[in-house]
Amino acid sequence: MLVARPAFCFARPLTIRDLFLILSKKLPLGTTHCIGWSTGQTGLMDVLRTLDLDSSSVVLRRAKADDLPAIVDLIAADQLGTARDGIRTPADLAAYQEAFRVIDADPAQILMVAESGHDIVATMQLSFIPGLSRRGALRAQLEAVRVHEAYRDRGLGAAIFAWAIDEARQRGCALVQLTTDKSRTSAHRFYERLGFVASHEGMKLAL
Ligand SMILES: CC(C)(COP(=O)(O)OP(=O)(O)OC[C@H]1O[C@@H](n2cnc3c(N)ncnc32)[C@H](O)[C@@H]1OP(=O)(O)O)[C@@H](O)C(=O)NCCC(=O)NCCS
Repeated sequence: MLVARPAFCFARPLTIRDLFLILSKKLPLGTTHCIGWSTGQTGLMDVLRTLDLDSSSVVLRRAKADDLPAIVDLIAADQLGTARDGIRTPADLAAYQEAFRVIDADPAQILMVAESGHDIVATMQLSFIPGLSRRGALRAQLEAVRVHEAYRDRGLGAAIFAWAIDEARQRGCALVQLTTDKSRTSAHRFYERLGFVASHEGMKLAL
């Protein structure tokens, strides 16, 4: 059984920048956030939510550069990811590090990892996209969702989505969207159970 626990507290005094972020709804005050030392993004706290999974603790937090090999392993372990991801050469690692640097510097991105003990057991990237349609609505895009095989089917995926949807709501998003490969029929079932509707065709052009 999986339960979300209110997590944290203020680890340092609020700065003017924190107040600005709170007022502009980029830094919601609530049980799912703690303000702590800056991680290279916007001063947002590393820890996003703490979950109880089968009586052990799983922490959802912002990814750090050190997590990259574990994140890439999760992405590459998947049947589709194995052909296109993995760290086999120094050039591969450099490419992932550069992408991480860009993501980490952008306040409109959250690269989340779920940590159990010292293991990274899941990951997801959340991107907040401004737009004009729907009266200038902000939307959240969910990408690269992976739960480690040993942790699947225990409600962790659903709990991660609950956090992501809360985060999107708190930032004022009008909708949450994702694309999923047509071959991932189990994932489609999972998303539909969470309330996602397959209302659009996702189209991609490889460059
Ligand atoms: C999809 C995924 C994120 C769900 O995480 P989870 O922790 O297993 O999810 P929950 O325990 O909350 O829910 C279980 C549901 O996940 C789905 N699921 C389980 N194993 C799965 C797998 N190997 N691949 C895809 N979906 C799976 C099923 O719909 C399952 O429901 P079911 O019992 O009706 O079959 C996870 O299974 C996963 O990482 N799968 C492989 C990668 C993938 O498909 N990612 C999505 C990319 S769009």
